[in-house]
Amino acid sequence: MPESGLNRNFITFEGIDFSGKSTQAVRLYNRLAKKCSCLLLRDPGATRISERIRSILLDNSHTEMSYWTELLLYEAARAQMVEETIVPALEEGRIVICDRFYDSTTAYQGYGRGLDLQFVGNANQIGSCRLTPAKTFLFDVEPGVVRARKEKSNRTEDRLEAEGMEFLERVRAGYQSIAKENPDRFYLLDGGRSVLELEDTIWNIITNYLF
Ligand SMILES: Nc1ncnc2c1ncn2[C@@H]1O[C@H](COP(=O)(O)OP(=O)(O)O)[C@@H](O)[C@H]1O
Ligand SMILES: [Mg+2]
Repeated sequence: MPESGLNRNFITFEGIDFSGKSTQAVRLYNRLAKKCSCLLLRDPGATRISERIRSILLDNSHTEMSYWTELLLYEAARAQMVEETIVPALEEGRIVICDRFYDSTTAYQGYGRGLDLQFVGNANQIGSCRLTPAKTFLFDVEPGVVRARKEKSNRTEDRLEAEGMEFLERVRAGYQSIAKENPDRFYLLDGGRSVLELEDTIWNIITNYLF
C-alpha cells in the first residue's frame, strides 16, 4: 500500500469515449517531458498482464460477460499496473499521467451498469491499492459532440464504446457527480472547446500545481 503523499505526482484524465482524454494526455505528457521525468499510461493497460486483461474486456465477441466479471477484470488490470508500474515510478519521483483510473469504474460500472456504488467503491480500493490521483481532469461533452467525433473518425468501437446513448448519458451524469463530490481533486473541463485551448488550460493548472 502506498505511503501517504506518494500520490502528489499522480495525474489522471477522465471522461466518456471521444471526449478528448487521450489527445490531451499526450499533449500534457509531451510538454511535461521537456521539464521533468514523467510517464504516460493507460488504464486498463500499461503492463503485459494488464494489456491482456484489456483485450478480454474490450473484445466485442464477449457479449456474455457479467457486469461483476467486468468490474473485477478492470480492478485486476489496475492492481497490476499500480504495483508493477505506477508505485515504482512515483517512488522515483516521476510524474505519472494516467488515461483513466478508478473514477472510470465508478462512472461506467457503478453509474452506467448500475452496480452498487458501495461495492464498486470497495473494489476500487483494492484495484488501486488505495492510490488516489492528486489531480483529475474530467472532459465533459454533449452526446451530440461524441456522435459527430465518432462519425469523423474511423476508429472501430470496442465492447464498451458500442453501448448506446442512454448508457453514455448515465456515465456522463455519474462523472459529474463524482467531480462534485471531489472538488479539491477534479477540474471539470468543457470537452467541446478547441484542442489548443484545453491544452493551455491544463498546462496552466499543472504548472501552477507542480512548479
Ligand atoms: N477538443 C477537441 N475538439 C475537436 N475534436 C477533438 C478534440 N479533442 C479530441 N478530438 C478528436 O476526437 C476524437 C477522440 O479524441 P480522443 O482524444 O481519442 O478521445 P478519448 O481518448 O476521450 O476517447 C479524435 O478523433 C480527436 O482528434
Ligand atoms: Mg482514449
